[in-house]
Amino acid sequence: MTTSTYALEEFIDDMTLLVESQPDQERLFDVGSSYLERLINNPDAVPEEYRVPAESRGRSANHGSYILYRGDGLAITSVVWGPGDHIAPHDHRTWGMIGVMDNGITETRFDRKDDGSRDGFAVLEKVRETLVRPGEVSLLIPDVDEIHQMDNYSDRPTVEVHVYGQDLKGLERCMFNLETGATKTFSTTRWDNC
Ligand SMILES: [Fe+2]
Repeated sequence: MTTSTYALEEFIDDMTLLVESQPDQERLFDVGSSYLERLINNPDAVPEEYRVPAESRGRSANHGSYILYRGDGLAITSVVWGPGDHIAPHDHRTWGMIGVMDNGITETRFDRKDDGSRDGFAVLEKVRETLVRPGEVSLLIPDVDEIHQMDNYSDRPTVEVHVYGQDLKGLERCMFNLETGATKTFSTTRWDNC
């Protein structure tokens, strides 16, 4: 896709209308990801201050997450993964779209194989590992395909735009320990969405 001039404000307007139209999941992803692709192909879509790792506003000096918009059924953030940044497998409990703007992110997806009957325990099976590149969008499909691990194996920051069906702040979610099978419930107290 060639460079676009599609602005964040236009994206927010278009996504708001789309969500308000109560599309089914397929249409939401079809139309929404076409908007997000246009946005992330605009090099000026996200202000520079929201494209850097920042200790004071991220969960570590090597990470950044910044709320760009929060509305009814729609939350948009920019997320920055510094060199070597990593998050263990986790779920989201809402639909999501992740668009890479700069650099790339290695995303590993997992299937949950157990029936959830054992408290604090899960069996995950690795499904695929993908290097998501600038201009590409990755989808989080609730209950179907939404457990992922993220790694920036490169030596420079990766910038993404994340779009969710609700604000992840305060939403109870699950983090998975691949080695022990242990699960841990967590919820973010801020917009540390990823
Ligand atoms: Fe995530």
